[in-house]
Amino acid sequence: MRIIRTIQEMRAETEARRRAGETVGMVPTMGFFHEGHLSLMRRARAECGMVVVSLFVNPTQFGPGEDLAAYPKDFERDCALAAAEGVDAMFAPEAGEMYAGDHATFVNVERLTGNLCGASRPVHFRGVATVVAKLFNACRPQRAYFGLKDYQQVRVIETMIRDLNFDIELVRCPIVREPDGVAMSSRNSYLSAEERRAATILRRSLVAAGKRIKEGARDGAAIARELREAIETEPLARVDYAEVVDAESLAPLGRIHGAALLAVAVRIGRARLIDNLVVET
Ligand code: PAF
Repeated sequence: MRIIRTIQEMRAETEARRRAGETVGMVPTMGFFHEGHLSLMRRARAECGMVVVSLFVNPTQFGPGEDLAAYPKDFERDCALAAAEGVDAMFAPEAGEMYAGDHATFVNVERLTGNLCGASRPVHFRGVATVVAKLFNACRPQRAYFGLKDYQQVRVIETMIRDLNFDIELVRCPIVREPDGVAMSSRNSYLSAEERRAATILRRSLVAAGKRIKEGARDGAAIARELREAIETEPLARVDYAEVVDAESLAPLGRIHGAALLAVAVRIGRARLIDNLVVET
């Protein structure tokens, strides 16, 4: 596996492979790999001639007071894990390679970014869309693999791809969970043993709310309230949001119909954990 630090080198590498007729698949990451990341790499490996993983902890998607400085890192381990999955190239630029000192251009996907995580992290999706556009320009993939744990991120990037005419297919990949149901996340490493046990409340509450919808409940606000109350039965959990929205527009659903997204963000200890469930009616 090649480790590539510059945009120029990265472009040269993928251009050569594209000219040779290969499909380039990309997995954008911020590193500290877990099984969720590895499942994206495996899928890309199975479907593409060349697999590029980007590893860049993007400063513009962290707000003041968030965990940019503390974000977990283990570059050597990440390289070994990616190489073992058959990844061809790891694009790991320094911040100065990605952002000029007087960087002035941002990508803002409107409408999809005001609620859910966008409400408590106002600059987050602007930073995500900007860096993903820049990573696409550096790596020039035909396919990009994203995990559905970050459901809102997936909708934001799908919309950016469409609106900015990127010739890239976003491949949605399922959430990977621990045996007890907790969604895999680099931020799970912030949890103590007791907090890690408490984190099971997210999935349990989502499944219970999903069951209520499957049984015929259709009042979105009532289900959102039940979801919040179920999470609040866990004393270590502080709910940031618990919402029921349309799975495509992410607009709140008064009356549940079509595909509903049940989405939660919960603080447990130092970690802010997110999870979701799509329920078809
Ligand atoms: O999901 C992530 O790890 C990040 O938001 C991404 C897509 C790599 C952009 O920095």
